[in-house]
Amino acid sequence: PNFTPFLAALPKCEHHLHIEGSLSPATLFRLAKSNNIALPAEDPAFQSIEALQARYERFTSLDDFLGYYFIGMRTLLTVSDFETLGYEYFQKAHADGVHHAEIFFDPQAHTERGVAYKTVVEGLTAAQRRAEADFGLTSKLILCFLRHMTADEAGKTYQEASALGHFSDGTVAGIGLDSSEVGNPPEIFREVYMSAKDAGLRRTAHAGEEGDSTYISRALDLCHVERIDHGIHLVDDMELLKRVAANKTLITMCPLSNVRLRCVTKVAELPIRTFLDNGVRFSINSDDPAYFGGYILDNYLAVQDAFTLNVAEWKSIAVAAIEGSWCGDDRKTVLL
Ligand code: HPA
Ligand code: ZN
Repeated sequence: PNFTPFLAALPKCEHHLHIEGSLSPATLFRLAKSNNIALPAEDPAFQSIEALQARYERFTSLDDFLGYYFIGMRTLLTVSDFETLGYEYFQKAHADGVHHAEIFFDPQAHTERGVAYKTVVEGLTAAQRRAEADFGLTSKLILCFLRHMTADEAGKTYQEASALGHFSDGTVAGIGLDSSEVGNPPEIFREVYMSAKDAGLRRTAHAGEEGDSTYISRALDLCHVERIDHGIHLVDDMELLKRVAANKTLITMCPLSNVRLRCVTKVAELPIRTFLDNGVRFSINSDDPAYFGGYILDNYLAVQDAFTLNVAEWKSIAVAAIEGSWCGDDRKTVLL
């Protein structure tokens, strides 16, 4: 049977989406021009939209991708740029059947180049309000710390958001940890995670994408995260996997990302069958859709292509995604 209409209509929640990773090459070039931002002239990839798109199909690793990701976001300067970025994502998510989205943003990548934290959040929250009004799409912001930067720098960013009241007023629902994983283990950021826990914030971290399964156990044990982003190396430690299943810890998987960044050679290599058989809860997400060749529905379709799941299995995935969301119980009831 053709699952496309069923998967398109299935109510989805997205939990692993870097908003800066939804910046399309077309918008990137447009903003570079209007904001007068120079793109690297020495890299032939920046000669045209098509050349850049083609380069995105040849990433060799997470770091290879991150180089382009951090250059791309240099074109974002104003409140309006961030609002446009956010709203364009919400439009695509809505078209793909997303009802609730919890989106990552990387404030340090902006403050480091002179764009104020407040500018970023003002633009993104304006986009959130419009998406809810226009589509009934609810959303949350997750502030990510860049793990290639220091714990001290993470702490400063945390304090800035806290001082603006963004944690107590719900503007920011939780914290995450992204960028280069190997060599930058979660416990470096233990202190900021403990502050977040004390403040009643939700907590997640990228772990087990390129890093081994101990990055997952250390994120859980030392940083008290409630979710694991990617988590593909969880299958290398079956005892840990059983614990994650028993605790209903959500794994936010990103199939097309894992293929593009060569964590696996094809979607069929991902541990989706093992997760289903062992009761590990997971959601399927797009990560950096403008860079990895697809939005959330493309990721659902790629999983179906690789695993031919049945309707009951898809419904269990959709329910796990709702239950693992960080919205209130009233919203969950509506989504279920
Ligand atoms: N991994 C780590 N950092 C990231 C990613 C990712 O997949 N996307 C954007 N920043
Ligand atoms: Zn990610």
